[in-house]
Amino acid sequence: MQTAPPDDPLWTIVYVSSASYDFTPLDLERLLASARLANDAAGITGLLLYCHGNFMQLLEGPRSAVQAAFRRVRGSREHHGIIELLDEPVPARAFAGWSMASAGIGAEQFHQLADAADATRRQLLLDFWQANR
Ligand SMILES: Cc1cc2nc3c(=O)[nH]c(=O)nc-3n(C[C@H](O)[C@H](O)[C@H](O)COP(=O)(O)O)c2cc1C
Repeated sequence: MQTAPPDDPLWTIVYVSSASYDFTPLDLERLLASARLANDAAGITGLLLYCHGNFMQLLEGPRSAVQAAFRRVRGSREHHGIIELLDEPVPARAFAGWSMASAGIGAEQFHQLADAADATRRQLLLDFWQANR
């Protein structure tokens, strides 16, 4: 994985959104497969969680690539009501090597992650995934 040049720092975006329909496990696999293809090509890594019609996703990589990926995400009719929770530089990738990690999550934990303080959310997402991968 390339390191980001100084004029294009390592960046992360975290958002939540509402699925436009009830995603089956197969729908999720298809979405992940297309996201991973695009992310591999763009140098993006991250985590996608789905819980009863809601998504939470962390995207990370060079800022320009993260912004381009987030434009693709925003353009998708498969979800709506996108709320950005984090949009900031990061010192290192949390999900290096994962073109889009994914894990099942219950409603209570999903809400805990959504309600977490900005300063701790990224670490909590990593902790959650490491415990549930
Ligand atoms: C929940 C969700 C996560 C997505 N994650 C990514 C991603 O990580 N990288 C990416 O390039 N596109 C991502 N996309 C965009 C999709 O890969 C694809 O471009 C989009 O769903 C196509 O939607 P459309 O059929 O409405 O055009 C995501 C879309 C959704 C709904």
